[in-house]
Amino acid sequence: MTPRIIPQMFRALGAAPRAAWSAQVPRAPAFLRPFSAQSEQPRLRLGSTAPNFTALTTKGEIDFHKFIGDKWTILFSHPADFTPVCTTELGAFSRLKNEFDKRGVQLIGLSANDLGSHDEWIKDINEVGSTKVQFPIIADADRKVAFLYDMVDQQDLDNIDKKGIAFTIRSVFIIDPNKKIRLTMMYPASTGRNSAEVLRVIDSLQTGDKKGVTTPIDWQVGDDVIVPPSVSTADAQKKFGEVREVKPYLRYTKI
Ligand code: BEZ
Repeated sequence: MTPRIIPQMFRALGAAPRAAWSAQVPRAPAFLRPFSAQSEQPRLRLGSTAPNFTALTTKGEIDFHKFIGDKWTILFSHPADFTPVCTTELGAFSRLKNEFDKRGVQLIGLSANDLGSHDEWIKDINEVGSTKVQFPIIADADRKVAFLYDMVDQQDLDNIDKKGIAFTIRSVFIIDPNKKIRLTMMYPASTGRNSAEVLRVIDSLQTGDKKGVTTPIDWQVGDDVIVPPSVSTADAQKKFGEVREVKPYLRYTKI
């Protein structure tokens, strides 16, 4: 099945996308439904410490904080194995291995199935995506990590009593070497992510951390950066050289 078929499938079923796909994947029994304790869910903000957990992955058991170590880490989730959009996403992230390596970034995926299923699915991802997935994929069949990181949509939570366990959406968490969450992205199950945007944000965050600058809309490496309001023009000139002042509060420079 190709991703193009999915919207047609949703229309044919006359249902919202989530309802269509959620009907296809077996539900976990009630005792495995961590989302019933929503009040215990940590509040994750930019700057929060990424919650720790232990989990089985396709590369062995991990303690997440030990896994992060002192590296930039991207944790990204998928609704289910053997699903078309997810298959394209994992292939794309895998093919970008050199780009992530260059930036000192490690990836870890998550999908809401068990290890046996992941191992079989990876064979398909490698075949379809002409790649070899090397990063670990968390087996989150009981949605424990999905609960911890609030990787669900409201519709699933609202229907939890009638329909059972909440499904995982497409979340991305960029976590820095200090284990702080620096970016979150949440995409619906029906929309594949943009791998170039994930790399672009990493470039922006790492540039900002190193140089003390911010980056404008659609910025790419090599473009002019912005002098933040906390830095005077005189200090910016000392540090970077020429400063182009468009407005007193909007000043560009080159790095
Ligand atoms: C997907 O294409 O990735 C997908 C399809 C149905 C349910 C969940 C995900």
